[in-house]
Amino acid sequence: MVGLRGVGKTVLLDQIRRDAESQGIYGVRVEAPENKSLPALLAPQVRQALLRLSHVEAAKNTAQRALRALAGFAKALKVTYKDIEVGLDYGPEPGLADNGDLEIDLTSLLEQVGLAARDANTAVVAFVDEMQYVKENQLAALISALHRCSQSGLPVTVVGAGLPQLRGMAGNAKSYAERLFDFPMVGPLASAEAELAIVKPAKNEGVDFTSDAVAEIIARTKGYPYFLQEWGKHTWDRAAQSPITLGDVELASAIAIAALDESFFRVRFDRLTPSERTYLRAMSDLGPGPHRSGDIADRLGRSVSSLGPVRSSLIVKGMIWSPSHGDTAFTVPLFDEFMRRIMPGSEWES
Ligand SMILES: Nc1ncnc2c1ncn2[C@@H]1O[C@H](COP(=O)(O)OP(=O)(O)OP(=O)(O)O)[C@@H](O)[C@H]1O
Ligand SMILES: [Mg+2]
Repeated sequence: MVGLRGVGKTVLLDQIRRDAESQGIYGVRVEAPENKSLPALLAPQVRQALLRLSHVEAAKNTAQRALRALAGFAKALKVTYKDIEVGLDYGPEPGLADNGDLEIDLTSLLEQVGLAARDANTAVVAFVDEMQYVKENQLAALISALHRCSQSGLPVTVVGAGLPQLRGMAGNAKSYAERLFDFPMVGPLASAEAELAIVKPAKNEGVDFTSDAVAEIIARTKGYPYFLQEWGKHTWDRAAQSPITLGDVELASAIAIAALDESFFRVRFDRLTPSERTYLRAMSDLGPGPHRSGDIADRLGRSVSSLGPVRSSLIVKGMIWSPSHGDTAFTVPLFDEFMRRIMPGSEWES
């Protein structure tokens, strides 16, 4: 799943995992932080799944062999990925997943995992959140390993979630990624769904909203789930009576915006260098976007190429992405409005 910040990817990923686990699938949950390697993230989780599989009589032997593969994998790759830390339950088997090359060893490891899962008549599924932070060579290795498992019909796969740039990153890592995976886009809720998200929980408590109050919340939040949650919360806290009115929403809006400015938006702003801030401020001057990179450069009186490095670092930080060649868009909904609030006036231009 790909989508902007706060659209509900993590909520969905967790729900999909619970649904899968309730049907007997072995789920493995991994969140990719910016600074940890993929093998280091996967190894302990894969071990947990294998230990559970090793208790299934029919899969005992294959699961143990997969644990040997994991031992070889961890030992051989520790040289390159020093952050790998995993308990080893069995010794390595020479020649099994111990080549020292991530792509080759991850393929062997996942094949062994798939064989164990098949013997246990189940599937092992890794649920990877914030997948855009996985480095390109590591993403390439993962895609390649899954490709092989898919060709062999082995029941092991990945369900991932990340920012929209993930799709392009996967395609750059392995050109066949587009065919191997689906990339469903998770976006804001349509009006009727957004209305339901606001009205229904209140109704369950015996409280109604006037229709102009609901319309105002939808207009303010543009249907983004996280913002609906915040507006719902602050409106609920403000309102003294049912039905909740437009006036209640207007009061709550000021509070919701102030709260977001101090938390959701602020934590992202604080991680930016001065030149990154200036770039985003120029973008915000042009509106919500997406914008042509040339227009942003024009707004700054600079050339597109001279702004290349700052644009790249903003993409790596997950602040912006490129919906199509030469276009630039915010990954955080309503960030343009925030940038204009936090850097008002025109001082940023000099
Ligand atoms: N199905 C849902 N039911 C109730 N609330 C939801 C749902 N989906 C999203 N939300 C609300 O939106 C918030 C953001 O959702 P979530 O954390 O899943 O977004 P995300 O897409 O993972 O964002 P990020 O890119 O910042 O990680 C949740 O904390 C919750 O308040
Ligand atoms: Mg998330």
